[in-house]
Formats: sequence, C-alpha cells, structure tokens
Amino acid sequence: MRQVYVNGDYLPETEARVSIFDRGFLFADGVYEVTLVLDGRLVDFSSHMARLRRSLGELEMPFSLRDENLLEIHRELIERNEVSEGLVYLQVTRGAADRDFIYPKEPTPNTVVLFTQKKSIVDSPLAVHGQHVVTLDDLRWRRCDIKTVQLLYPSMAKMQAKSQGADDAWLVKDGFITEGSSSNAFIVTIDGKIVTRDLSVDILQGITREAVLLYAGNVQLRLEERPFTVEEIENATEAFSTSASGLVNPVVSINGKPIGAGKPGSITADLRQIYVERSRASAI
Ligand code: PDD
Repeated sequence: MRQVYVNGDYLPETEARVSIFDRGFLFADGVYEVTLVLDGRLVDFSSHMARLRRSLGELEMPFSLRDENLLEIHRELIERNEVSEGLVYLQVTRGAADRDFIYPKEPTPNTVVLFTQKKSIVDSPLAVHGQHVVTLDDLRWRRCDIKTVQLLYPSMAKMQAKSQGADDAWLVKDGFITEGSSSNAFIVTIDGKIVTRDLSVDILQGITREAVLLYAGNVQLRLEERPFTVEEIENATEAFSTSASGLVNPVVSINGKPIGAGKPGSITADLRQIYVERSRASAI
C-alpha cells in the first residue's frame, strides 16, 4: 500500500487523518505543488519550492518547514513507494480552526500532506497523438498566479472539454487565451516564433513554462511573451501545453479545427526531447 506523509508521520494512505475543521477543506485555504519525478529524482525542485514560498507569502500563511526538510520528505516518499517515474504532490494548508472567514488570530499548525503518484509520463499516448482542446470562458478567480487548492473550475472545465470529446480546455479571458485548465499554453507562429502569455495574475507561473522558454532560447528559437487570440491558434503551425505532469504536450486541434498539419509538430517534439534530456540531467 502507498505510504503518504501527514504532519510529520509516514503512514499507509488508509491511516492518514486530517481534521474536518482544516481550512483547506472548509475554505480551500491552502497551496500545493506537483513535482515531476524522473529516474527516481526530482525535477526543478528548487523552482517548485520558490513558487510554494511565493504562494504562501501571497496568502500570508506562516509555514515553518524549510526546503531541506521538504526535500528530505519528497525523497523519503519516492524511496518508500519505489517511484521511478511519476509525481510528488505537496499540500500545505493554514491548518484547523473553528470555522471563521477571518484567519485564526493565533497561527494554527499547518496541515502538510505529501503523496506520490506512479505514472508513465515520458511515454504518453497524448504526446504521440496530440491533444484536442476546446476553448472555454476563464471563470476562475483573479489570482491565478497563486497555486491554491481551489481547483473546482479547472475541474469543471476539463469535464466540459471531455463531454465535447476533447482532451482539455484552453481558457479565454477578454478575447485572449490565458492558459490551459492545468497547464500553460503555447503556439508556434507561421514565422517560427514561440508565443506564450506573459506572466501576470492571469496565469500560473509554470515551472515547465520557465524551463522550456530557457531551453528554447538556448537553441536560438525566437520567443514572444504576450497574450494571443483563438484566431492566432487557428493560424499557428503548432501548439503545445506545458506542465509537470504533461511535460511539453502537443495540441493538434482547437474547437475541432486542425492546427497546422493537424498532428504533433516538429518544434514541439524537439522541445519535448530537450526538456526531458535536461530534466533527467539536472534532477536531484
Ligand atoms: N498543474 N497552469 C495551471 C493552471 C496549472 O495548474 C499548472 C500545473 C500549470 C503548469 O505548471 P508547472 O509547469 O509548474 O506544472 C499551469 C499541476 C501539474 C496540477 O495541478 O496537477
């Protein structure tokens, strides 16, 4: 049985317990990170921890565990669960307190849970065949830069996409794509530029997004960080999404219209390969 971490203990998943008064449960007052594991090692761990600190800071949530402690817990779980490839999920909430919209006056101990998911991520059918996406209104709250656990709208969006026979939804705000339901969105223009939305409160600053921009720059691809429209996607030669769980994942149609040749593009494939190679080389 899977071993999980909860507030200092490693336990079989069926024995882990969290209070019904946990503010994560009652108010979605919590933040999370999902870190990729390749060859039993963590990819971009320090970037994930930096983003965690930023999310905590934006919510003024005290948290005493240090990155070294968190690294140790991640590694312990990878080892105990024999994860060679997959993900580690980390969630920190403000802890348990009698239900009140106001944050507790005296800080409560955080609830910290971690668990692993074994998964074949590099070899994925979506990477071979490409994703079909549909666009939906971005009805999320206005602080999408904070990685909170309130994921109901992304979940609804994904369900709506599935019900339309698609793999995922790309979200649209004021006529421009913000991001995917759980990934950042990219296109490759006809003149070979890689375009993704610039950082703001409208999107999550994806760790994979950052790495891919860096690697793309290293191989002299031209980059543009700016909002883009659905029409630009229809006229793009390629499109892809990035996330810890999907890596660099081709998108082959939008709202039923093929993008470029309607199959995964070569720039996307190259970026995926570079991303996997560099991630394997730098994982800790
Ligand atoms: N989601 N945008 C959103 C809204 C996300 O939820 C995610 C990640 C990303 C990509 O971020 P990163 O490259 O750091 O994984 C962008 C994770 C994987 C999840 O919720 O499972």
